Amino acid sequence: MSETQVFDKEQYMNMELLRFTTAGSVDDGKSTLIGRLLYDSKAIFQDQMENLEEVSKLRGEEGVNLALLTDGLRAEREQGITIDVAYRYFSTPKRKFIIADTPGHEQYTRNMVTGASTADLAIILIDARNGVLTQSRRHGIIASLLGIPHVIVAVNKMDAVDYSKEIYDSIVKEYTEFSSKLDIQDITFIPISALVGDNVVEPSSIMTWYDGPTVMHQLENVTISADKNQVDFRFPVQYVIRPHQDFRGFSGRISSGSVTAGEPVTILPSRKRTRIKEIVSYNGNLEEAYIGDSVVLTLEDEIDISRGDMIVRDHNVPVLTQKLDATICWMDDEKSLNKTTPYILQQTTRRVKAFVKNLNYQLDVNSLHRKDSETLELNEIGRVEIETAHPVFIDPYKNNRETGSFILIDPASNQTIAAGMIRHSKSAIEEEAEKSSKSSNVAWEELSVSREMREAKNSHKAHCYWFTGLSGSGKSTIAKEFQNRLFNEGKQVYMLDGDNVRHGLCGDLGFSDSDRDENIRRVGHAAQLLFDAGNIVLCSFISPNEEMRGYVRSLFPEGQFTEVFVKADLETCMQRDPKGLYKKAKEGKILNFTGIDSEYEEPENAEIVIDTAKMTILESVATLI
Ligand code: ADX
Repeated sequence: MSETQVFDKEQYMNMELLRFTTAGSVDDGKSTLIGRLLYDSKAIFQDQMENLEEVSKLRGEEGVNLALLTDGLRAEREQGITIDVAYRYFSTPKRKFIIADTPGHEQYTRNMVTGASTADLAIILIDARNGVLTQSRRHGIIASLLGIPHVIVAVNKMDAVDYSKEIYDSIVKEYTEFSSKLDIQDITFIPISALVGDNVVEPSSIMTWYDGPTVMHQLENVTISADKNQVDFRFPVQYVIRPHQDFRGFSGRISSGSVTAGEPVTILPSRKRTRIKEIVSYNGNLEEAYIGDSVVLTLEDEIDISRGDMIVRDHNVPVLTQKLDATICWMDDEKSLNKTTPYILQQTTRRVKAFVKNLNYQLDVNSLHRKDSETLELNEIGRVEIETAHPVFIDPYKNNRETGSFILIDPASNQTIAAGMIRHSKSAIEEEAEKSSKSSNVAWEELSVSREMREAKNSHKAHCYWFTGLSGSGKSTIAKEFQNRLFNEGKQVYMLDGDNVRHGLCGDLGFSDSDRDENIRRVGHAAQLLFDAGNIVLCSFISPNEEMRGYVRSLFPEGQFTEVFVKADLETCMQRDPKGLYKKAKEGKILNFTGIDSEYEEPENAEIVIDTAKMTILESVATLI
């Protein structure tokens, strides 16, 4: 065994990095292949090598068991023998490598999606004895969906089929036919024996009929720089850094494109514009930073920016939208996709509440056909429409694998339950245009009565007033009085109240966080209909969740929605206790009672704040008028 490669630090830092993933069933020889790559390229250390030989001998195995390198050595560790190999990272004189591991059995889709989404290359292993299996197809489909630019199909265990060219050729033929229907840019077939070492690092001396590259040659030489998006500068803000009064920087990793000091930029979602002042890195200030670099940016102007915002270049902004068209892979083995559950969608560093509005179809991974389905379960893949409570800034996945992808999180368990790739998106402006093009359709216009026509007839504009606050804060009392006033003035007015809608429209909902969210979602849409009918709609709901209030706000045109925070401190509300509910809640007879054992998030954006602990009803109503 010769010496391990030694690099100087500078050389190592500047080497190009290739991320790859290996997909195969348990017995396809994945671990052996990785072990062989490390062993033959001498990317493991001398002492580890000796250890490995020793353990193999202890186990009574002939030669060296390469799978030991990756399969973990629990039993050996328990006996005090350790082999710690950082097998996820290795390098050769040409390149650095990261292996995103994807165990082959059971949850293969899930693992592949999470491990592979940033991979430059996927190795799909096919056991020459078994030929092309359903799983081999599934792995190809996933590589294609994930847009992994390069695929190596390694036909393994050639030694077990007498290095038969015929068997290899027929596998290549079958898989080529199948993969031609997929969207894979570059696919290379290699006949190998990971066990013996043929065509892994060293060319096979037996399969002389094969004259293509070895696996290592392909890993070292495949061109990956062209796969990266060098154009569209996207910088999702991870943290705001403020070590002292005079310094305010925004840290994150450049997810695509590049940026130079002094360049004009736009901040999303505020769309405020400024210039980059400095690009700060570990090695001091930079003139320019590129895709993949982790840096801190400072800006010329004081702009309010927080985690989840994005810095982009002027005139090259992603789409801001609340509607996504995406392919998702379901990853939860307990709960299946539910269209009424509010999920959390995380895209880059941004988290928003989201509903899966529609499951357009499910993809049959064997036939590539689309089929109708009501839901998705573990490992199933489908095309969906998603609606978010706040805008997200997105690119199509094919342009940007970072800003074009997301995960869905179950708010109850905090588990990742799906991974998604954005197909395309409609911007808010496009949606607006679509809406107006519908209403400018002549036949429709002639027959229908628009909100504007109703408003003209009523001699006032439609509006939505959203009263939020604790139980007993006085929301409904104020709203009722306000309604009386408006009605007496001849206004077209209608009121929706928590206790009332919970008998009919929302009679099936309780007071868990998700039921409350659904309550507010339904009420928001009901209010929108009443609004479209020209009404001044008064809504009185505890609506404890800020994000859901934001969602409702997004349903109305700007200037025609007013959030009224009816603010009375918990003490006051408990003293009033008009329905005796606080008493019951404290005795444990009612659960999830807001203010007692369920949280109320105070509004940050309310247009009007009324403190009923300090004001009378009439004074409060006067504030509104
Ligand atoms: S919300 O949280 O979903 O907005 P909503 O305003 O519809 O609540 O309903 C609140 C009313 O339901 C309260 O005024 C109270 O009469 C009744 N209620 C019953 N159980 C609860 C509870 N656990 N928490 C809050 N309100 C409750």
